[in-house]
Amino acid sequence: MKLWLTLFLIITATIQSYATLENITCKKCHPIIFSEYQHSMHAKSSIFKDPVHKAVWDKHPDKAKNNYKCAKCHTPSDHDLISGKTKLSKNAIQENEPISCQACHTIESIEKHTKINKNKFTQKKKYFFSADKTRKGEKITFEEKSSYFGLMTKTSGSPYHDIDYSNKNFYNGNMCLGCHDHKQNGKNFSVCDMQIKNDDSKETCISCHMPKIQGSFVNLKNTKTHAFHGISIHTMNISLLSKHIKLSLHQTTKGFEVSIENKANHTLFAQPLRLSQLRVSIEKEDKNTHLESKNFMRIIGKNGKPAMPWVADSELKNTLIKAHEIRKVAYDIPLEKGDTVVIEFGYYLVNPKAAKKLGITDEHVTEFKVLTKKRVEI
Ligand code: HEC
Ligand code: HEC
Ligand code: HEC
Ligand code: HEC
Ligand code: HEC
Repeated sequence: MKLWLTLFLIITATIQSYATLENITCKKCHPIIFSEYQHSMHAKSSIFKDPVHKAVWDKHPDKAKNNYKCAKCHTPSDHDLISGKTKLSKNAIQENEPISCQACHTIESIEKHTKINKNKFTQKKKYFFSADKTRKGEKITFEEKSSYFGLMTKTSGSPYHDIDYSNKNFYNGNMCLGCHDHKQNGKNFSVCDMQIKNDDSKETCISCHMPKIQGSFVNLKNTKTHAFHGISIHTMNISLLSKHIKLSLHQTTKGFEVSIENKANHTLFAQPLRLSQLRVSIEKEDKNTHLESKNFMRIIGKNGKPAMPWVADSELKNTLIKAHEIRKVAYDIPLEKGDTVVIEFGYYLVNPKAAKKLGITDEHVTEFKVLTKKRVEI
């Protein structure tokens, strides 16, 4: 009897932990978006899936108290953790959908605060916000209309949920900013700030990071395209994003100048662990010359020395490329006809110096990644 009871408890516990996985239902009808999402950083933003986040959390003073405040942005779908019912532990949500489909699609508005912004979610069940310019303002509930005495039925909307196309935050990209705008530490020092420039340019967070690509967004009807959901700088969308960074070369009296134009409305690689870099080499008939690479970074610290984000109270250096900035780098090296200049702009996910301090050796994290490249023949 006792054995049966234990077995029963184990089985129901397993079912429960899976039943709370919200994305599984979406997979049935939105398979393409679901599989892209699996590769996105939003599916891997917990310490159980992101080795960089884990390495920093392992050193964080709040870890001793198991007070995982990072959950607000890194694992908002672990509802029991957010509400204080449980402490951080490995579970199916942490591993599969720390920022679930619902976590984004139920964001009703963003509350602005100096420390961190806050997402306000709708309390309505199965009610999702989305954007479609041709249906802007509409609110669609599932409807089945029968005609010819019930022989034909016509449906509109989704048979599983309501859709609200009237939330402006899904059109201007502000729905991303509950998590992505800025973050201050306990000393009111800004650890990370995207310094977003609100401007009239047509591109938004959503149009650049979730561009429309081939494939239907739902398997109940054939829409030609869907919004890309595999958001990540680690893997697949490098080619989708590199076009927003333009490299060019101008010859000058002393040599030449390379320009990096950042078309994004935010500082490039604002996360303080990143290091972006410009690499230039000159190919001549018989030899290649690699010029000194140029770093773009923000170093935060205390008493003039680099420090961890929770200790830092000042900025020691900031050479990051700002929103819409055209950064020029001059080289006093005359070029000759027949030379080819190879320009590469890319980044280290974690600045090699910081990686060493954090004990991160994973090659995926420590290698230099080229974001965009250009060859100019003189
Ligand atoms: C039973 C099938 C079904 C399930 C399950 C389902 N959806 Fe849908 N969904 C649809 C259909 C059909 C549409 C298209 C409705 C239309 O175009 O009128 C849709 C549309 C949407 C849209 C808006 C698309 C647009 O036009 O911009 C979003 C967002 C969405 N679903 C999210 C989800 C999420 C998140 C889940 C999981 C919690 C989910 N759906 C589960 C069938 C489903
Ligand atoms: C206000 C929301 C927010 C909170 C709270 C937050 N983060 Fe983050 N964190 C982000 C966002 C957004 C990113 C992605 C930034 C980017 O890529 O530019 C990120 C990225 C990171 C990264 C880099 C990850 C990588 O793979 O390169 C680390 C490390 C990190 N956070 C650690 C933490 C820790 C530790 C805590 C809690 C002590 C925390 N964060 C709390 C929003 C937040
Ligand atoms: C609920 C909070 C949340 C929302 C909403 C959110 N993000 Fe994120 N996002 C994160 C966190 C946390 C990370 C960092 C994950 C990590 O590296 O561990 C991240 C990572 C990213 C990254 C990748 C960084 C990398 O290291 O690969 C991009 C790009 C990004 N988000 C863009 C967006 C865009 C665009 C939107 C709006 C459509 C958005 N995010 C909405 C929390 C959020
Ligand atoms: C004009 C296109 C464009 C727009 C608009 C844009 N981005 Fe980006 N974003 C980029 C490019 C290009 C990069 C750098 C390439 C990469 O991440 O691989 C980038 C990088 C990022 C990263 C990763 C930074 C890191 O260090 O991990 C995050 C997070 C991000 N953007 C969020 C946003 C958010 C939030 C918005 C809206 C305020 C936004 N982006 C608007 C083009 C854009
Ligand atoms: C980081 C936030 C975020 C996450 C996570 C997310 N979505 Fe979306 N989704 C959006 C935004 C923003 C749009 C609007 C895109 C646009 O305007 O083109 C969107 C659009 C959609 C659409 C309409 C598609 C289209 O092509 O216009 C569907 C359907 C959808 N999402 C389903 C899902 C499902 C299913 C998941 C989970 C597997 C998911 N979303 C996860 C932010 C998110």
